[in-house]
Amino acid sequence: MSASRPLLARISGAALAHNLQVVRQFAPGARILAVVKADAYGHGLAGVLPFLAAADGFAVVGLDAAIQCRSAFADRPVVLLEGPFDTAELALIAEHRLTPVIHSGWQIDLMESRPRPAIASVALKFNTGMNRLGFDQDAGRQAHARLAAIAGVSNIMLMSHLACADDLDNDFTRLQTQRFESVTASLPGEKSLANSAAVAGWPETHYQWLRPGIMLYGSSPVLQHAARDLGLEPVMTLQSRLIAVQSLKQGDAVGYGQTWTCPEDMDVGIVACGYGDGYPRHAPSATPVLVNGQRVALVGRVSMDTLAVDLRGVNAQVNDAVVLWGEGLPVDEIAAAAGTIAYELLTGVTARVPRVY
Ligand SMILES: Cc1ncc(COP(=O)(O)O)c(C=O)c1O
Repeated sequence: MSASRPLLARISGAALAHNLQVVRQFAPGARILAVVKADAYGHGLAGVLPFLAAADGFAVVGLDAAIQCRSAFADRPVVLLEGPFDTAELALIAEHRLTPVIHSGWQIDLMESRPRPAIASVALKFNTGMNRLGFDQDAGRQAHARLAAIAGVSNIMLMSHLACADDLDNDFTRLQTQRFESVTASLPGEKSLANSAAVAGWPETHYQWLRPGIMLYGSSPVLQHAARDLGLEPVMTLQSRLIAVQSLKQGDAVGYGQTWTCPEDMDVGIVACGYGDGYPRHAPSATPVLVNGQRVALVGRVSMDTLAVDLRGVNAQVNDAVVLWGEGLPVDEIAAAAGTIAYELLTGVTARVPRVY
């Protein structure tokens, strides 16, 4: 990692704390498990935790991240979304008072085969239609009975995950919510169903514990609304500088494969950012980039360390400021241009890009 290369991911703690408040406003009666898996969606777990101090708990994948959350917040639930992977993890889960999600029978076998030290809290996951992880209706009730019989287990959260909540016109969320109601009806325990999209769009899914991820980071969780319209602010701004300006002639081609040709004599700016940093290589020409706060178009193929922009109509020179996404340029817009989602872009920013808080 070079300290002088101009590319960095600037992380706004204020925006993160603000977005957490936006979640609260959507569901004032519910508690919030801030989803900080995948290194806080690429923002850097250690760096963001102080700005999530108002969260009621945390949800992660992997023991290291869970223990990091536990060290930062001694008394809040820390949920392991994929649960334990093997017996060896159970001791650490107990020691750090983590809440493993139990989604499969083999995990209950693990817990039964090694009941000490006791794990007090678990989250039982039901499959209500996502068909990824979790127990179906009958198996779920049996799983609950088995977990409740394990010595030391005193708190079983009931949870499920929604497949289509991002589409406010898709009734499948209603069906999943009904199935969740029905499978949990006779069971004790607090419930958790809502991801970000459901926080913003499906109030009937809120229950006691929300599990928002992407909206905390300022990307819109629903297809029908832009992040700004939901009151969300971008947390990561991926910023760099122009490190060269090429004065090219009409007919000159730019970059690998010569996929873009200058339609006239013009300047092309070279930005220190490429797919080796996590910028999507499949972003097509015309994907927007900000140079000095003005929108310009990406041209040609994205390289490992650089990308090129059309400088026609802007006054720009070497060292001028570039924003790839974030403040002034929603990550959702870049994701749409590149045929992907903000989750992939944010989690894909590579380790060589310094996160600055
Ligand atoms: C089980 C579970 N809950 C909550 C979330 C948070 O989802 P989102 O980032 O869409 O809010 C995720 C992320 O995919 C998840 O897997």
